[in-house]
Amino acid sequence: MDENIVLEKVLHFHSNNNWKEILRINEKSNDKNALKLLWVWPSEENLKFLESALAERNIQGVTSLGCGCGLLEWIIQAYTGLPIVGFEINKEWWESKYSVPAFIPLKYVEEEIVVETNPNFALLFCYFNNGEAFREYVDNYRGNMVIIIGPHDGSGRHTDPRPFFPNFGQSKWHLVNYEEIKDTRDFITIYIRS
Ligand SMILES: C[S@@+](CC[C@H](N)C(=O)[O-])C[C@H]1O[C@@H](n2cnc3c(N)ncnc32)[C@H](O)[C@@H]1O
Repeated sequence: MDENIVLEKVLHFHSNNNWKEILRINEKSNDKNALKLLWVWPSEENLKFLESALAERNIQGVTSLGCGCGLLEWIIQAYTGLPIVGFEINKEWWESKYSVPAFIPLKYVEEEIVVETNPNFALLFCYFNNGEAFREYVDNYRGNMVIIIGPHDGSGRHTDPRPFFPNFGQSKWHLVNYEEIKDTRDFITIYIRS
C-alpha cells in the first residue's frame, strides 16, 4: 500500500478510536510502508497476551522507551484502557514537518529524567536499538516488569536488546512468558525482577 495511504488510513482510524481497523491495515505484517510507521503489527491475540501479562501482576500502565510515533502504544492504550507514556530522543526531528505525526504525546529524554518512570508501570522496549541506554533505563527503574519486543533468530532483523537474549548487565531479571507476533519471528517477552 502506498506510504501516504497507509498514513491516511491510520490517521483516520486513530481519530475514530478504531484500533481494530488499524490492525487490519497490515494484518499480514508484510507491508513495507506500514512497517516504516511501526516495526511490529500485533494481532488481537497478542494484545490480549499483553493485557493478561500486565493484569496478572497488577501493573497499572506502561512506559515505552524509544516509542517512535507511538502507534503501538496508542493501540495498547486503546485496547487495555491503561495509561501509556512514550519517550523518544531527538525532539527536533519528532516536532519537525518531516516526521510522521505522533499518536500519543511524546516525552523527550533530553527534558524528562527517565528515573521518574512510574514503578507501578511496566517498561516497554519495542525494537529498541541501544543496549547501553536499555541497561541505563532498567537500572533506574524501580518497578518489576520489563517487556521486550523484537526479532528472534530467523527474522532477518536485529535489535538490542534481543527478546530472548537481553543483556540486563545483572541477573535479577527472569523471563516468565512470551508470545510470537503472528508468525513473524518477532516475539514479545516478559521479564520479572526476582
Ligand atoms: C527501531 S525504532 C523503533 C520505534 C518503535 N518502537 C517501533 O517499534 O516502531 C527505535 C527507536 O528508539 C529510539 N531511541 C534510540 N535510543 C533511544 C534512547 N536512548 N532513548 C529513547 N529512545 C531512543 C529511536 O529514536 C527510534 O525511534
